Amino acid sequence: MVDETFDDARVITSSDSAQSTQAEINEQMAGITRDYEAAGAEETQPRIDYAPYRSSILRHPTKAPRPVDPESIELWSPAFGQRDVHTLESDLTIQHKGEPLGERIILRGKIVDGDGRPVAGQLLEIWQANSAGRYVHKRDQHPAPLDPNFTGVGRAITGADGSYEFTTIKPGPYPWKNHFNAWRPAHIHFSLFGTQFTQRMITQMYFPGDPLFALDPIYQAIVDPAARQRLVATYDHDITSHEWATGYSFDLVLTGTHRTPFETDTTAGQSPEGAH
Ligand SMILES: [Fe+2]
Repeated sequence: MVDETFDDARVITSSDSAQSTQAEINEQMAGITRDYEAAGAEETQPRIDYAPYRSSILRHPTKAPRPVDPESIELWSPAFGQRDVHTLESDLTIQHKGEPLGERIILRGKIVDGDGRPVAGQLLEIWQANSAGRYVHKRDQHPAPLDPNFTGVGRAITGADGSYEFTTIKPGPYPWKNHFNAWRPAHIHFSLFGTQFTQRMITQMYFPGDPLFALDPIYQAIVDPAARQRLVATYDHDITSHEWATGYSFDLVLTGTHRTPFETDTTAGQSPEGAH
């Protein structure tokens, strides 16, 4: 998980693509949107190859998956037990001696299947940049400060009703090398493990009203507007805690027509290059 705390897409870019302007990226994205609307077929998952997202071509296998026995994978893949996950691990603001800087937030939601049934006992992991938009990773050297009181990783197990809760700091937007002056909207990475290691699903959660949505080729790689909106958390004043933290809700839907877009569906989540 350590390598995935960093956005390797910052590094995996050609010198040519790094010279594209935001206007050129916008034009490409607009063209893809026009083609998508003209095609008239709903697409609710991220595109595997999305040209404005320059490194997307490197982020998925180019050969068909090889069928293997899931049980044999379980013998040598990482394992976890419910007892290993302490409830305090879902509070990312108490991992060090002092308080991290930034806007404290409470993030609450449910994992449900396509029929709205809760998914209990689900391991969720999150990782994120700090309030200045900086990851704790040797490759992230952009000139924003690290926070000695914030690592940016946490995990939780869903309750019987499929619910989870994290306390953390609202991450900042950060620059990446997809094109000139490229900035990612603030986001939190989510990993869900299912009941088996082979069922892992990975996605990103965004914050409402981010001005970078229209400019971000990773967000726009989900070409359907309603589908990508499902990655945006909702501000919830009932979760907001008096003189303590603002609150957001974010539900994850595993199947069905309102399914959350997951990177695993493009196999991008399995890329050795790591997360976005
Ligand atoms: Fe990221």
